[in-house]
Amino acid sequence: MSQGHRQVLPERRGATDLHGRELLAFHNVQIAQADGAVLVAEANAEIQAGEKVLIVGEGGTGKSTLFRAISGVWPWGSGEIRVPPRSHMMFMPQRPYLPLGTLRGAIAYPAAPRKFPDVAMRAALTRCGLPHLTGQLDEEERWDRILSLGEQQRLAFARLLLHRPRWVFMDEATAALDETNQDLMMALFRDELSESALISIGHRPGLEAYHDRKLTLIRSPDGAKLTTARGHATVSRRRPGRAGRVAVAGRGVARVLRGSRKGQS
Ligand SMILES: Nc1ncnc2c1ncn2[C@@H]1O[C@H](COP(=O)(O)OP(=O)(O)OP(=O)(O)O)[C@@H](O)[C@H]1O
Ligand SMILES: [Mg+2]
Repeated sequence: MSQGHRQVLPERRGATDLHGRELLAFHNVQIAQADGAVLVAEANAEIQAGEKVLIVGEGGTGKSTLFRAISGVWPWGSGEIRVPPRSHMMFMPQRPYLPLGTLRGAIAYPAAPRKFPDVAMRAALTRCGLPHLTGQLDEEERWDRILSLGEQQRLAFARLLLHRPRWVFMDEATAALDETNQDLMMALFRDELSESALISIGHRPGLEAYHDRKLTLIRSPDGAKLTTARGHATVSRRRPGRAGRVAVAGRGVARVLRGSRKGQS
């Protein structure tokens, strides 16, 4: 590895607050590109269970890369990202992954096709504006080709409704939906999934209404900074008076990103 490269050193530690609730936290996080160039210069934020947070920023400021760092697939950077247990997080990209096979399998993914009862699958499809698919659960097709991107995105919400993850990460996951359908899908977080935390990236009008607060990645020459809407680099808390340091317990995972030393190989 050449000079300037940075590497993540994952560390297993809990990500819970003082009350034992799950937490997502960035502490002095810098995210670098593979050549060592700084992409995100500073991110300090804490997001609590059940919170709904919108992340915005100009194209290329590193929003999607921030999600990759959370999921553990982006290795370059420094600082510490504390994350809830992997099994409690679900990532929703703009184009959902639909495995080959039956529609049932595509909806249940990543669980086994028979994990959810038919009645729940049909209800989820109907709730997500896909009632025309309820009779095709056992049909094997190239669903990734047959369904429009908007239908695939709604299918991803039906999947969400079945899995009910505690932490949802949406990266432009409603980009192909018209505003009415976007409203129908986002209302899930107000109604059926109000307990889930939602961290979403998106610039579509109308998205803001479904979030408690907004974080902005602001571009700057030495790397983007994650700020509150008011423009301060921040540690944000929904409930004032909570402790500034994250209590550590044994259940979750913390990713510790540390810059490598000069000359380290
Ligand atoms: N796998 C990769 N290898 C090298 N560079 C990458 C990789 N992925 C992203 N980048 C670069 O990192 C920068 C940030 O990309 P990222 O996708 O995080 O931006 P973004 O804020 O999500 O942008 P957009 O709003 O366009 O989706 C870009 O300059 C991009 O080219
Ligand atoms: Mg992106």
